Amino acid sequence: MSSGKVKKVETTPFDGQKPGTSGLRKKVKVFTQPHYLQNFVQSTFNALPSDQVKGARIIVSGDGRYFSKDAIQIIIKMAAGNGVRSVWVGQNGLLSTPAVSAVVRERVGADGSRSSGAFILTASHNPGGPNEDFGIKYNMGNGGPAPESITDKIYENTTKIKEYFTVDLPDVDITKVGVTTFSVEGGTFDVDVFDSASDYVKLMKSIFDFESIRKLLSSPKFSFCYDALHGVAGAYAKRIFVEELGAKESSLLNCVPKEDFGGGHPDPNLTYAKELVARMGLSKSNTADEPPEFGAAADGDADRNMVLGKRFFVTPSDSVAIIAANAVEAIPYFKTGLKGVARSMPTSAALDVVAKHLNLKFFEVPTGWKFFGNLMDAGLCSVCGEESFGTGSDHIREKDGIWAVLAWLSILAYKNKENLGGEKLVSVEDIVRKHWATFGRHYYTRYDYENVDAGKAKELMASLVKLQSDLSEVNKIVKGIRSDVSNVVNADEFEYKDPVDGSISKHQGIRYLFEDGSRLVFRLSGTGSEGATIRLYIEQYEKDPSKIGRESSEALGPLVEVALKLSKMQEFTGRSAPTVIT
Ligand code: G6P
Ligand code: ZN
Repeated sequence: MSSGKVKKVETTPFDGQKPGTSGLRKKVKVFTQPHYLQNFVQSTFNALPSDQVKGARIIVSGDGRYFSKDAIQIIIKMAAGNGVRSVWVGQNGLLSTPAVSAVVRERVGADGSRSSGAFILTASHNPGGPNEDFGIKYNMGNGGPAPESITDKIYENTTKIKEYFTVDLPDVDITKVGVTTFSVEGGTFDVDVFDSASDYVKLMKSIFDFESIRKLLSSPKFSFCYDALHGVAGAYAKRIFVEELGAKESSLLNCVPKEDFGGGHPDPNLTYAKELVARMGLSKSNTADEPPEFGAAADGDADRNMVLGKRFFVTPSDSVAIIAANAVEAIPYFKTGLKGVARSMPTSAALDVVAKHLNLKFFEVPTGWKFFGNLMDAGLCSVCGEESFGTGSDHIREKDGIWAVLAWLSILAYKNKENLGGEKLVSVEDIVRKHWATFGRHYYTRYDYENVDAGKAKELMASLVKLQSDLSEVNKIVKGIRSDVSNVVNADEFEYKDPVDGSISKHQGIRYLFEDGSRLVFRLSGTGSEGATIRLYIEQYEKDPSKIGRESSEALGPLVEVALKLSKMQEFTGRSAPTVIT
């Protein structure tokens, strides 16, 4: 057994180690500066209650992006230096963000104890590689991201740090499952490398009816395609879709996790999931083959999802509404009913209509999954989602890309239960169109302006806030741009009071609300790593069944024009077009 002594290393603070919406994300070159990662990790240990560190067990793993392997060894040694008793590591350092949440909540060690929290190494959907992004965040014992009280303390600690603690131990082989035990200052310290998928697969099997999904997948009329964009979802896709559910291996695209995501941008949307989009018949470079009935993609750490039907895109805002509307019938986990539903503010109001119809508790929260976690811990919310391709439920405290796919497969299996031998299967598109016919349609789009000068972005936002003080002036401008849009009846900055802990979050996005239910929302992204990203969300509600079949871009044309001119987007940003439209 190797042994070691705790070593104190002197250090000085780095600027800008403030965790954003989802942890600290920076270029790899920033993270690899001597002491940079160490300062953040020590500041985190110092911010946690000491019983969650000393003598405790923690988890370290992530989406496998470049620098993860080194970071894991550094954190293991620092855990030993800070009195942690045991570290769990997913094999090869891989655990999806939802799997970490599941492991924190569900996994029990041989001695009957659990973990107190987890370092997740990911920059989510940002590209990876030596010149791209790395990231780190800490999740607590409920499986959810650390609350602001902790992240504020981490940041404060990073500004004052003078020393960190580590132990010179040999590197642990994280490619092999098994326990390595060390002696540290006379006590034992162990590192337990475990299979990355088993806990998560077990949890999924307890939520969904795998047998009915298996039947759907084995129908000759059904076809399926899953694109992991070379992210960590690949480590789960084969186990779940192929081994458990019987999908063909050829249905998996880009399912080998890579440190640089194959050079791609691992964000599941119509712009970045190019191969899948082509295979589903949705791009100019369509393949000659008949597209599959169902397609889905995940981001780098597998918490996001995009759902597609044959030649059909499901907006994330519609996706959560449709899952909520069908959950009780189609998913065994929800058979006793939903406790409530929630969406982030910029997400379309499609979920609101379902909640009203089903008489469910409903919450509108700021962008960021942690707000859902509070509601779930208090038993107020079962299903939630965001426009940013995040969907999930209270089975864990993170959004869950594979869960969303299984939810859709469950709905398809349920709708086709009596129909698997029939002429034609009920398709994704059929389900969505039927939903619109019942609940109305929320036309929806998002424009992203990435890497804009931060000062200019702030000026744009300030000018929109300033405008809000005079609604009649706003309406004059709006009508001057397009006379065919309805009146702005309210304009404000979104503010949220958490119903559970009473905390107030201000400045969560600028809203212009129209009489007919349309909305324009402007926000600055909290997850970028360079410059500022302005997000513009445009939404229009249509109840008239004869008008729900329009092209989204055409239906939203007038509002887009109003949004761009009202905000003076081009003047402030110098951009004549957004970087990405979803
Ligand atoms: C992360 C968070 C989400 C959030 C998303 C978009 O994925 O987990 O909750 O919706 O970022 O954030 P942004 O601030 O970039 O719009
Ligand atoms: Zn992610």
